[in-house]
Amino acid sequence: MREQYFDKMLYGGDYNPEQWPKDIWEEDMRMFNEAHINSATINVFSWARLQPSENEYDFSELDAVIERLAKEDMEIVLGTSTAAIPAWMCRKFPDVTRVDFEGRKHKFGHRHNHCPNSPSFKRFASELVHRLAQRYSGHPNLKIWHISNEYSGECYCEQCEKAFRVWVKDKYETIEVVNEAWNMSFWGHTLYEFDDIVVPNYLGDGIHDTAAAFAGLSIDYRRFNSDSLLNNFKMERDIIRLYDKETPTTTNLMGTYKGLDYFKWAKEMDIVSWDNYPSYNTPLSHTAMNHDLMRGLKGGESFMLMEQTPSQQNWQPYNALKRPGKMRVQSYQSIAHGADSIQFFQLRRSKGAVEKFHGAVIEHAGHSNTRVYREVMELGRELKRLGDDLIGAETKARVGILFDWDNYWALEYTSGPSVALRYVDQIQRYYDACYSRHVDIDMLHMDSKFSKYDIVLAPVLYMVKEGVSEKIDAFVSQGGTFLTTYMSGIVDQSDNVHLGGYPGPLRETLGIWVEEIDALAPGTTNILATEAALFSQGRYKCEMLCDLVHLESAEMVVAYNSDFYKGMPAVTKNRFGSGEAWYVGTVPEQTMLNELIAHILTEKEIETFDDVPEGVEIASRVKGEKTFYFIMNHRNDVQQFHSSFKGCTDVLTNQKVSDKIQLEPFDVKLLVKK
Ligand code: GLA
Ligand code: ZN
Repeated sequence: MREQYFDKMLYGGDYNPEQWPKDIWEEDMRMFNEAHINSATINVFSWARLQPSENEYDFSELDAVIERLAKEDMEIVLGTSTAAIPAWMCRKFPDVTRVDFEGRKHKFGHRHNHCPNSPSFKRFASELVHRLAQRYSGHPNLKIWHISNEYSGECYCEQCEKAFRVWVKDKYETIEVVNEAWNMSFWGHTLYEFDDIVVPNYLGDGIHDTAAAFAGLSIDYRRFNSDSLLNNFKMERDIIRLYDKETPTTTNLMGTYKGLDYFKWAKEMDIVSWDNYPSYNTPLSHTAMNHDLMRGLKGGESFMLMEQTPSQQNWQPYNALKRPGKMRVQSYQSIAHGADSIQFFQLRRSKGAVEKFHGAVIEHAGHSNTRVYREVMELGRELKRLGDDLIGAETKARVGILFDWDNYWALEYTSGPSVALRYVDQIQRYYDACYSRHVDIDMLHMDSKFSKYDIVLAPVLYMVKEGVSEKIDAFVSQGGTFLTTYMSGIVDQSDNVHLGGYPGPLRETLGIWVEEIDALAPGTTNILATEAALFSQGRYKCEMLCDLVHLESAEMVVAYNSDFYKGMPAVTKNRFGSGEAWYVGTVPEQTMLNELIAHILTEKEIETFDDVPEGVEIASRVKGEKTFYFIMNHRNDVQQFHSSFKGCTDVLTNQKVSDKIQLEPFDVKLLVKK
């Protein structure tokens, strides 16, 4: 069952009144009301105030903040404050701080910095959450529990090492099985007992973030670290549940952040939320993919946009202002891909420390006569008018793209064949090919129901875990179209090769086998030759990796046209049962990929929008009988195109559109088809 937690769109953001005197709070309330802000995320980094020493708690300020917000009938997103540890704790209980990849023990400083396996951290965090939950559960304005903040990073301390040994024992049971899994006969690494296991950091078998001497060990450490932080989350959530059976819990995620297996996390969260901080040059499609991934985490349920800046960031190298209208179109992009809230970091800009140049609804000028404030207010008015029209609306995608953190980690730990290989980039290329046709996409995980889709794309499916190839077989034989690429079907869950020729367990479905993998240096290419009618040209370039493919039952669609493997297949298609399985054995130029995907989409009669100008995005959400089409101009220019939307009403202006869509700079149309 899809849960629906909102009856209107939450509009607000992080609010830190503890940094300001009380007369400023009054100003804040006035300005929030005027801007139609209806929610505030509070208490995210207040541990030091709530608990000034080991045995002392003080909730008076938080009480006052909650009371003041409640008086304005604001919805409260209540942080648990455990994302930054207080100075006294680091001083008295040094086990709370982390040891990093280089083996350095950290001191008090920064945030998102606790050791997930520290007994003191767990003790103090649980005590704090007990008190918070007891005190504020049942408060009529409490809308969401926001546990910690942006869980991230790793710890390599001795506590973690000990806990890792337990985790490993739990998973593999005997040391012999561990040796087998991590292939420890290599370099004479045989482990004799569980205590021989060393955390894979720089002092052990770690090399760096994207290389490992024993990938099986390093991948397991990532799984363990993700689980350790998730245990911290679950600990807080379970304490909250002792007092509060209903209020949904979340923690704010970060898109394709590498460190945590978000699919696993999402199972434990009531609602997914995430922080969207595109840079001035982040491709639109990357933000779109991030949103789709966040929606995919709970199988298509809407998510909260927990943070975005109304104007600029401070932590990127070049923090461009969002041009007038850009914040609005980015907000609609979030909604178009599944957001049920629009929240900013932050509501009032801090006066000191690292984020003083981070944009906020209320700027340093302190009044409402600013461009940013006006834009926030206008969007607030518009969202208020929309009411619950879009809340809980669904995306009815017929194309799914597989995304998997185990694969992300494993692919990037491999030493060879090319350092240029990055997981998200490769997934993005296939996402882009769909995105360029304005097709709605679901991001899937290994347990998703493939049969819901006409097309499943699984680029760089490097690690094929147990049960996955059987699922793919079933999907294809029942009529689905499946596509995978170079660096697929290579290893099992422990990074050991599926012997007998690549792509291992996918070989029969794809009807090919791969003998060797060539890696091309930057700037060098091979040529692809094809006569297939689906392509507009006969020649394309390819780069990075070239698989030397042999046909078994598949047919060749594209061949290499140079080097010693000239004439060997580069792209193949196999009929399998009543479906089709494609293999793309190299990294072709994007035009070719777009044409290939367009062909597959057409074959499956999936609605596409062609001839839409660059920078214009179309996405849809369905609620009841209505399909909402978001037409978004992400460019600072007027754009127009012919469309099939003639006669639809733009619910933002209440006007009907003709067959020619005209968009002003950063314009948005929200068209309804019944
Ligand atoms: C993150 C954090 C916030 C704030 C913003 C600034 O998303 O969660 O506390 O630091 O970044 O962009
Ligand atoms: Zn630790």
